[in-house]
Amino acid sequence: RIMPEETTSRPHIVTCTAPVNIAVVKYWGKRDEDLILPISSSLSVTLHQDQLKTTTTVAISTSFKVDRMWLNGKEEDITHPRLQSCLREIRRLARKRRNDGEPDSTESTGLSHKVHICSVNNFPTAAGLASSAAGFACLVYSLAQAFGVEGDLSGIARQGSGSACRSMYGGFVQWIMGNRDDGKDSIAQQVEPESHWPELRILVLVASAKRKPIGSTSGMQTSVQTSVLLKHRAESVVPHRMDKMIKAVQKRDFAAFAEITMKDSNQFHATCLDTYPPIFYLNSVSQQIIHLVHRYNGHYRESRVAYSFDAGPNAVIFTLQQHVPEFVRVVQHFFPPDTNGEDFIKGLPVKGAAISEEL
Ligand code: ADP
Ligand code: DP6
Ligand code: CO
Repeated sequence: RIMPEETTSRPHIVTCTAPVNIAVVKYWGKRDEDLILPISSSLSVTLHQDQLKTTTTVAISTSFKVDRMWLNGKEEDITHPRLQSCLREIRRLARKRRNDGEPDSTESTGLSHKVHICSVNNFPTAAGLASSAAGFACLVYSLAQAFGVEGDLSGIARQGSGSACRSMYGGFVQWIMGNRDDGKDSIAQQVEPESHWPELRILVLVASAKRKPIGSTSGMQTSVQTSVLLKHRAESVVPHRMDKMIKAVQKRDFAAFAEITMKDSNQFHATCLDTYPPIFYLNSVSQQIIHLVHRYNGHYRESRVAYSFDAGPNAVIFTLQQHVPEFVRVVQHFFPPDTNGEDFIKGLPVKGAAISEEL
């Protein structure tokens, strides 16, 4: 869950953190590029924020001449349409609130004043670990705190990056695609809180921390234009899968959860291959992890572990608490610890991979 960390009144400064979320029924494809409206619904698990998270500080001051933003220490182009959408929508809500007679919580720093935004991800950016999700969720939430705006902000986060709308809530979250042209019904909703399934664990295996060659936005654009499999998936597979996944989560049925999660990740990567020219996000380490998980589950004749890959080679592993120590040993056996400076997120370096326990 996103939380304000610190608020001071003058200069008006707010710092927030937001976690990433990993989709188990994936979003891939838009029907409206500007409003970011998807061609299908999706469902994700929001991670704990102690490990993969964005931290964003927003300052409002009369002395700022223009809005500015820094990401990981480097200045970003503030005129980027997605940043502009988020800024515009938050200011619009703040103005509405003030016109409705609510006190102006920005005190002396009014709506006309400019913001400086500073954001840092503590994990690889644009490497298929959902940095755009944590990043825009955190941006929107921090701006809302700074301007004193409340209520469901998932529709605004969605306009920064589609997957960001789901990071506005903790636990198990669905993004309902909606059917309106103005996107007002395309919002995120919590299906179950994190406390609903306390035994669920998530491990992140970092096969590569490099920037992916094709960003999610352009990748899914090409898929929508060229993949018949994606069209079939959106129309005939995902609606049914959403129902089954919600039921699996509600019943805490790990075997069903695991099967849908793996099949959905595989179908997403199949639509990438069906895209023309094809897109490859998985690498040989990813393929080895897929095989390893199926061999492990086959050995026990039950699904104890599930993998999911976003638009990148890094594996997200779902399992239950009681299987973590053994599965970690298995991973370390096949990907022995490596000391020659491979990128990893936290502690536990595993060759070309890092493990961080979540949830
Ligand atoms: P990922 O798989 O990491 O989500 P994407 O291709 O979807 O990769 O998005 C990466 C882009 O998201 C970055 O190039 C940047 O524009 C944006 N982004 C990442 N982190 C942040 C952040 N903390 N604040 C604002 N925008 C961010
Ligand atoms: C594979 O939300 O990053 O991670 O909406 O263009 O910013 P934009 O794309 P983005 O796409 C995420 C794709 C995915 C699946 C998912 O998170 O549902
Ligand atoms: Co993204």
